[in-house]
Amino acid sequence: MSNRKILVTSALPYANGPIHIGHMLEYLQTDMWVRFQKQRGNVCHYVCADDTHGTPIMLKADREGITPEALIAQVGKEHLADFTEFGVAFDNYHSTHSEENKHFSSLIYNRLKAAGHISSRTITQAYDPVKEMFLPDRFIKGDCPKCGATEQYGDGCEVCGANYASSELKNAVSAISGEKPIDKESVHYFFNLADFTEMLTDWTQAGHLQPEVRNKLAEWLDSGLQQWDISRDAPYFGFEIPDAPNKYFYVWLDAPIGYMASFKNLCDKKVLDFDAFWAKDSNTELYHFIGKDIIYFHALFWPAMLKGANFRTPSAIFAHGFLTVNGEKMSKSRGTFITARTYLDYLNPEYLRYYFAAKLSAGVDDLDLNFDDFSQRVNSDLVGKVVNIGSRCSGFIAKRFNNRLSAELAEPELWFEFIAANEIIAEFYENREFGKAMREIMALADKANRYIDEKKPWLIAKEAGKEAELQAVCTVGLNLFRVLVAYLKPVLPTLTYSAEVFLNSEVHGWIDELEPLLNHELNDFIPLMTRVEPDKIAAIIEASKENLEKTAVPSVPVVKEKQFSSIADTIDINDFGKLDLRIAKILKAEAVEGADKLLHLTVDIGDETRSIFAGIKSAYSPEQLEGRLTLVVANLAPRKMRFGLSEGMVLAAGGDNGIYLLSPDSGAVAGMRVK
Ligand code: 2FM
Ligand code: ZN
Repeated sequence: MSNRKILVTSALPYANGPIHIGHMLEYLQTDMWVRFQKQRGNVCHYVCADDTHGTPIMLKADREGITPEALIAQVGKEHLADFTEFGVAFDNYHSTHSEENKHFSSLIYNRLKAAGHISSRTITQAYDPVKEMFLPDRFIKGDCPKCGATEQYGDGCEVCGANYASSELKNAVSAISGEKPIDKESVHYFFNLADFTEMLTDWTQAGHLQPEVRNKLAEWLDSGLQQWDISRDAPYFGFEIPDAPNKYFYVWLDAPIGYMASFKNLCDKKVLDFDAFWAKDSNTELYHFIGKDIIYFHALFWPAMLKGANFRTPSAIFAHGFLTVNGEKMSKSRGTFITARTYLDYLNPEYLRYYFAAKLSAGVDDLDLNFDDFSQRVNSDLVGKVVNIGSRCSGFIAKRFNNRLSAELAEPELWFEFIAANEIIAEFYENREFGKAMREIMALADKANRYIDEKKPWLIAKEAGKEAELQAVCTVGLNLFRVLVAYLKPVLPTLTYSAEVFLNSEVHGWIDELEPLLNHELNDFIPLMTRVEPDKIAAIIEASKENLEKTAVPSVPVVKEKQFSSIADTIDINDFGKLDLRIAKILKAEAVEGADKLLHLTVDIGDETRSIFAGIKSAYSPEQLEGRLTLVVANLAPRKMRFGLSEGMVLAAGGDNGIYLLSPDSGAVAGMRVK
């Protein structure tokens, strides 16, 4: 068998917040791929680290009254505990705030500088005179210069989607001190990315990227590469730039270098050859698993930095899509912003590993975690099909044959059919088509169950003189079960481990090397997995809900209940047909200054975004609304209100007992019309 040498990374999580199940999609995808490579007999190192630098981490530590070092030490421990319990088996987990990272960041910078790829010039930036620091765009708030929406950040308007320079914001204030920023000059250092235009044009077309990513890169390259600002002024939590006092490397400069640093740390512990993996002429493989939001950094800046500093470039970048939960972006108010820890408090991590595997492909499409589908797949595939084979056959072998399997395999063709599937399953794993691999494995599980259904060992067991036949059928069943478990090993390490204990035999290597267990003594069957308990899912959602403000009984309802009769005056179907009622997604909700009852909503009605003022403030806090679906009258003539134009109406039921925004059943999406 080939013996490839592979180095794999997942994106480094920021050290200022917990790991959530959206992150887990990436770590589980990478872990399954790495486990597969190891099972194939390849040398594969999987490294990661916490991404510890930058303004948000510095400010968070400041707010908590601790040093950034103390904050990142604490968060780093929590991250690693979460990953470990999910079965993510890093070979090394490090920190970007490490000696190794400082060394490589300086080395790469110095090499780029020596080769003429770094320049410096004075730029003017917003500065907080109270906090005495330069303000990153997202720490400046003000009114959008295009649509006038208030409380917009310097990195773009969430209401109209406009992009602008933070200096264009109206009534700008520092989000940290509330003070009006002043303009201040300072020298910044830049990486001349355009020096690598030709190299990147070739590299991005040379098979290192997924097709849809490659196309995106071609667009970016066509529009020309800009200089990349790689320095930040003190105070900044990071590494000081060599020979540039009070200037720090921007967090995104040293973050990918953290991949190297973590690997160097591993090499020092395990006596591995660092250069074999990073030298320019390396014949090893290097893969970065990332989310599609950070492609720019990994497919442009990173290969250019490596090339310019005389290191090897990645073999491939594997980008994945985002995780949605029950069809929507994760939301704190709906309880779908689920941290890894909350999940672990209630459910078996292997359920999620399998569910993600069953839905993952090699592309960048978003993946939806639908909890009904989740339960159904786990219960039906893992519990109902795979584990069931073990439990159906093990009882007879234990009770009637002292846990011993037959000396011969009664159905060699069936066995070979199971083994022969290894090639296609390996190809699916290798190409990150995990969903296809799972379908192939479940088709085999169906076959094994059909075999047992046809042979009916429970009837054979009742007939006298059919001992050998009973033992033979169960021996076949358990051997097929073992092949299935071996195929699932990259996805379900814990279940596999328990099955190996029961089978009294470990699976080493890939399935083409597997021999049937014959005349072999088993251990007693251990329950391998139980069904998903629905109340645990409900408990996760409940535990994930933020403490939502209890809302007061409103004095003025949005839609007044009919006061005198329970039925309104009738309208005919044509009148009804005039209404354009749509499912809308509330993208943003905010209080309106000077208005007691109004909330300003920005809603997505499918083909456009609307700005609507709704008198529902007494019943909902803005955070409760963001992300949820509701109903909107989309063809109501726009009304000019004191606070702005309202372009539609959200529907709510209201009376003396409160205001209740209408929402569709789960599964509906923004833009659907009410018929
Ligand atoms: O986007 C993020 O969460 C970053 N912390 C990822 C860094 S990946 C690598 F470049 F370090
Ligand atoms: Zn705007």
